[in-house]
Amino acid sequence: MNDILPKDQIWWDLVGQAGRRVAELHNFSFIETPLLESAALFEAGIGVNTDIVEKEMFSFRTKGGDTVALRPEGTAPVMRSYFQHQLGYFSSPLKVFYSGPMFRYERPQAGRERQFHQWGVEIIGDGDPVYDAAVILVCLDFFNEVKLKDIQLKINTLGCRVCRPTYRQKLKDYYRLRKSKLCKDCQRRYDKNAFRLLDCKEEECLKMRGGAPIILDYLCQNCNNHFKSLLEIIEDNNVVYEPDSYLVRGLDYYNRTVFQFHHPSSPQELGGGGRYDYLAELLGGRMIPGVGVALGLERIIDAVRGRNANIQPKLGMKIFWVAVGDQAQKSSLKLMGQLRRAGVIVGENLGRKSLRAQLKAVNRAKVKVALIFGQKEVFEGTIIIRDMETGGQETVFLKNLIEEVRKRLR
Ligand code: HAM
Repeated sequence: MNDILPKDQIWWDLVGQAGRRVAELHNFSFIETPLLESAALFEAGIGVNTDIVEKEMFSFRTKGGDTVALRPEGTAPVMRSYFQHQLGYFSSPLKVFYSGPMFRYERPQAGRERQFHQWGVEIIGDGDPVYDAAVILVCLDFFNEVKLKDIQLKINTLGCRVCRPTYRQKLKDYYRLRKSKLCKDCQRRYDKNAFRLLDCKEEECLKMRGGAPIILDYLCQNCNNHFKSLLEIIEDNNVVYEPDSYLVRGLDYYNRTVFQFHHPSSPQELGGGGRYDYLAELLGGRMIPGVGVALGLERIIDAVRGRNANIQPKLGMKIFWVAVGDQAQKSSLKLMGQLRRAGVIVGENLGRKSLRAQLKAVNRAKVKVALIFGQKEVFEGTIIIRDMETGGQETVFLKNLIEEVRKRLR
């Protein structure tokens, strides 16, 4: 698991602010669920035969004897909260967003961490394809907000209880004759989760996939109409997409729409989501349709930092305080406090006594203005303002400091 270091905070602020702003513009309300939930929630929701539940959950028994898990994703917890607090009563459909750490015991590698962060949105309580489109559009606005271009949207449908069993059978019929050539994982998946055979990356399995039946040929009328309407809506919104019959996603709760966002700089997808009309039932409630998405913030930050993004995050600090001599140092915190209360971010290196060392720190900080406070200035009730871009200096009275600083930062 990784630390997020101070030097990287600007990027986290950037995606954090973009996520909040875009979600609020689309009228999603923020929801925060606990990091720890009952393991059974994920077993029932995501599915016991998925990689996430089978291999990747951090779960343990508490002293009280409950089996709990660090949340590997946010959708099942949001649905749990929906029931627990009857959230549908307050708003239908319920539109919520979340942002925070998720945990999966995966083999760490670039773009795959054991603690990672997701920004996600969920719309619960309506099965209309207009909401599938709304979820896609809010993500595209997010990408736009962080100036990430060349986003590729892959989209597919997984059908429903009516049409999916027929397709699953066709798929199994196709693979039955070829089972011995499948990789070990896929041989296991054949019985438990045949759809996953379609997204295996092993060479032999990929080769075999070419001739496999596709779900579009087996959709029932309702699923067909749903998928068609969704595509019409996103086309109407000028969204470019790529139909991908092999896109199945790794969580069992999906039905109908599934989609993923990709970026040329990232080997893995940046985010994905879909419709989960049976999740509520899997968790023991009545059937409540839902659709949502989660974006991986580490992957987005990597893509934004790469050459395809042309944003330069702004430095917050524009003022650096330099104090020379004991008396000046003593009075400094109080005066800096006045500036900070006026909303000015002030940097300092007061532990260093010499002017030279402090000026070095000013240069490193790349600020616009340095304030230099020495013995003479303490005595006169003044301070020197140095413009770091032009090198020009001016002495002003301390009583006018805030005003003079503001003038120079405008
Ligand atoms: P997911 O595809 O498992 O979906 O995860 C969503 C995104 O989280 C991925 O596309 C990826 O960007 C990021 N992610 C997943 N695992 C890792 C990892 N180990 N390291 C770094 N990033 C990772 C879900 O979690 C669903 N709950 C999405 C959803 C919401 N569906 C409907 N509503």
